[in-house]
Amino acid sequence: MPVISFASSKGGAGKTTSAIVLATELAQGTDVILIDADPAGRLARWSTLSPLPPRIRVIRSGGERSIQDEIAEARRAATFVMIDLEGSASRLTSFAISESDLVIVPTGDEQQDADEAIETLAQINMEARARRRDIAAAILFARTNAAVKSKLEKHINGELRAATRVLTTELNRRTAFSSLHNAGGGLRQLDPADVNGIDRAIANAQAFAAEVVDLLEEVRHAEVA
Ligand SMILES: Nc1ncnc2c1ncn2[C@@H]1O[C@H](COP(=O)(O)OP(=O)(O)OP(=O)(O)O)[C@@H](O)[C@H]1O
Ligand SMILES: [Mg+2]
Repeated sequence: MPVISFASSKGGAGKTTSAIVLATELAQGTDVILIDADPAGRLARWSTLSPLPPRIRVIRSGGERSIQDEIAEARRAATFVMIDLEGSASRLTSFAISESDLVIVPTGDEQQDADEAIETLAQINMEARARRRDIAAAILFARTNAAVKSKLEKHINGELRAATRVLTTELNRRTAFSSLHNAGGGLRQLDPADVNGIDRAIANAQAFAAEVVDLLEEVRHAEVA
């Protein structure tokens, strides 16, 4: 079943958070396996904080020698497989990208973020060429302001949208999203007494998940055609 990697050469772009948000959202209705392929282990740490939603399993990758087997096994066992990658190029990252049906590249909306995102897309293209197949990739604006954008942010956003595939939904900067790293679990397990704006975060996560599912469908049809 489809494998979605989260990649960006920029550290702190929002890979782990976006992976958790997407996985917990999709796991509302189906089985999801999350592979933590970042030696820093932030995803594995999140998974220990509170009981996981029932349809999510988190696997900590054994590294570049085992990642391909881990992915193949996860594909057989779950409807969606998500891989959280480290923020730098490595053989582990390459292997995971080349096994992916979709690579999501989270980015902020400052110039440096945009440059890094373009660089990450170039790396994905190199993997695709080495593998002699297309690897679908999409930029996700993450940690962006939900309120009005500055002129510069609009410009960078527009520039990237013109140059490459960008998800329409942004994963805005929200306390509910960052809280997941402290509380564990998904947005629905957060306590409204502790965290503001859970409902808006859930709506944001739902829109994100729906768009990813549509995109995967599009990619699958393109492969069959
Ligand atoms: N949409 C968001 N809203 C609020 N905070 C966010 C959001 N996305 C990420 N963050 C916060 O930003 C920080 C970095 O995010 P995250 O760990 O997801 O990035 P990363 O790309 O996985 O980083 P690394 O390259 O170090 O693995 C975290 O503290 C996280 O809580
Ligand atoms: Mg991370």
